[in-house]
Amino acid sequence: MELIRLQKYIAESGITSRRKAEELIREGRVKVSGEIIREMGVKINPDTDEVEVDGHIIRQETKKYYIMLNKPAGYITTTSDDFNRPTVMELTEDVHARIYPVGRLDYDTQGLLLLSNDGDFANAIMHPKGNLKKTYIASVKGLITVSAIKRLRSGIDIGDYVTKPAEVELISGTERESSVKIIIGEGKKRQVRRMLDAVGFPVLRLKRVAIGGVTLGNLPEGKWRHLKPSEIELLARQKKGK
Ligand code: URA
Repeated sequence: MELIRLQKYIAESGITSRRKAEELIREGRVKVSGEIIREMGVKINPDTDEVEVDGHIIRQETKKYYIMLNKPAGYITTTSDDFNRPTVMELTEDVHARIYPVGRLDYDTQGLLLLSNDGDFANAIMHPKGNLKKTYIASVKGLITVSAIKRLRSGIDIGDYVTKPAEVELISGTERESSVKIIIGEGKKRQVRRMLDAVGFPVLRLKRVAIGGVTLGNLPEGKWRHLKPSEIELLARQKKGK
């Protein structure tokens, strides 16, 4: 068996990305065969060395999983919750690998969420540089106005940030409720909700329907499926701006 860099081995165990693995090493949380390793670049032999992170032995997970989940509202996008709320991990228990969410959706937002055990993939997708466009369908209270749509399109102050121009399209509208499609390249906390609050049309329901060219399609709510190889490639390509 060939020697492998410690941070790569940790990332391939699925617990975190390679960059975070370097932090763990620096913080003295990683042991190789019983000895704390703090320096970078150490190589290990996966057949004979035992690697521990925070006292837990980790192993390389060679099979990579790339999952899309149709998250229902009322689930939190973390692996555990201090308030005991349901987590998206409960909906993907039958994926027998240590996957974790790639990015996040609010507790009350539904729709397309990616999960993976490929730390480098997760890190690349989440990195703010060259952000992938995300498409949302928002149901808002009342009949949204043309001027509100124009303000959303040109960028709007959401308190601590002015959003970049967004693609915004009215899908349907009545006096009671309107449905709008919003495509943004950024991912500030509760961004779509705050954008719509800022123009006076609070969100009633919010659903993410696409990340880059990968769409939720008709995946039933609460269900997951594997991404197709072509979808994984598409995300990687779009992320690089190709
Ligand atoms: N914008 C929001 O307001 N919430 C989300 O979950 C995602 C984008």
